[in-house]
Amino acid sequence: MHHPALGRLIQMPIDEDFKEKLQIVAKHPEYGYDIWGEYNPPEKLGIHGSRVAVDFDICIGDGACVDVCPEEVFEWVEYEGHPASTKKAAPAREADCIECLACEDDCPVVAIKIYPE
Ligand code: F3S
Repeated sequence: MHHPALGRLIQMPIDEDFKEKLQIVAKHPEYGYDIWGEYNPPEKLGIHGSRVAVDFDICIGDGACVDVCPEEVFEWVEYEGHPASTKKAAPAREADCIECLACEDDCPVVAIKIYPE
């Protein structure tokens, strides 16, 4: 069964070429990673992270990534007012990623892309 948000939103997978198309527009105030693309909270949240990239405008807060990550890379962050979900999985410790790709494989809406170093 799909998450109820899926029926209401037209969602595309994260754009794998986003680094060629988008600019870094902010740094996350707490975790320090880069934020790419349009960042205009609460409606537009952009792509969070560079090595572990999470498209916050696609993320529905499913949590599979948080559960499956063996390195505890992710932290929940609240964004009241976002149309897809009010909680997002922030790649708070993307430097710890071991590139197992479990999060990328398990996210039901393909909101995550890992960029191996
Ligand atoms: Fe979001 Fe996908 Fe994780 S929907 S919380 S990035 S599994």
